[in-house]
Amino acid sequence: MAESRVSYKELGIVNTRAMFKAAMAGKFAIPAYNFNNMEQLQAIVMGCVESDSPFILQVSSGARKYANQVLLRYLAQGALAMIRSTGSKLNFSLHLDHGDTVELCKSCVDTGFSSVMIDCSHHPFEKNIEETRKVVEYAHQHDVTVEGELGVLAGIEDDVVAAKSIYTQPDDVEKFVKATGVDSLAISIGTSHGAYKFKPSQCTRNAKGVLEPPPLRFDILEEVEKRIPGFPIVLHGASSVVLKYVEMINKFGGKLDDAVGIPEEQLRRAAGSAVCKINIDSDGRLAMTALIRKALWENPKEFDPRKYLGPARDELKVLIAEKNRNVLGSAGHGKEIFGA
Ligand code: G3H
Ligand code: 13P
Ligand code: ZN
Repeated sequence: MAESRVSYKELGIVNTRAMFKAAMAGKFAIPAYNFNNMEQLQAIVMGCVESDSPFILQVSSGARKYANQVLLRYLAQGALAMIRSTGSKLNFSLHLDHGDTVELCKSCVDTGFSSVMIDCSHHPFEKNIEETRKVVEYAHQHDVTVEGELGVLAGIEDDVVAAKSIYTQPDDVEKFVKATGVDSLAISIGTSHGAYKFKPSQCTRNAKGVLEPPPLRFDILEEVEKRIPGFPIVLHGASSVVLKYVEMINKFGGKLDDAVGIPEEQLRRAAGSAVCKINIDSDGRLAMTALIRKALWENPKEFDPRKYLGPARDELKVLIAEKNRNVLGSAGHGKEIFGA
């Protein structure tokens, strides 16, 4: 697909370097929101413009297939044009989430991504270094930033399935970062992907009967920070699994039992540390699903997609702005990075 070859610089977007520098200095985290379709993209962009938050638009390999890789570059270009039309100078990175092969990462570099993750965390340590190094060598030639991962998160992504978390070993991080040349490092400290981050048996129930998960392993994060001071750390699997959306989904015909996420105060603590990027996908999915279910339930005769996707998109925008303001601490930092 020769016609889809493009550098992110031609699209006018940025890599993650300046954003992570600001996040480290300002003790906040850049939100990385996954998207698959136009409504999610509109909500992310407008939620971040309204809260003046730098952000990362994140695409999994499944999302890339779903949205079509040629269309994706125009979606990113369109997102930037939409931001400019509001008068804002805000910018963003287009990032490959959980790239599982060197070829996929290279292909994304060649088709407008400004940042890629190579996730070989499920491979043995030396193999992880080898594959990650190959991606860094190629990406850096194009000034594309690279995220690597050490440790395994429980949960399911398209191509990576893990039954249980394997925490990052702080003793490994210095060697990995030096040997690979990565720009940021995802670590495993007890978060996990999806809406079922913990088994009920791992949780306690509070007075209202709501499941409370075990705390994140901040001791591991602190050890990692000591080994690689000032190096940008990434937290995957960081949705809070907002209770009101789970309840709404269940009220309007869904069935999500014992869904549980990462409490907001733990994410606030992480954002104030060397964690510079926090990944959020499931919360957006839950918010949209809740509002779509409600709209269809309350209006059974409705068949105009705008009538159920519109309210879902609007809710997602509110959720995103709220997360930027109250959890990540990224709101209000756009102008400082990109100018007023
Ligand atoms: O970490 C994974 C993201 O939530 C993407 O999920 O592979 O289903 O698009 P996906
Ligand atoms: P959640 O499933 O917690 O939203 O995590 C998303 C993620 O880590 C994407 O890489
Ligand atoms: Zn992830």
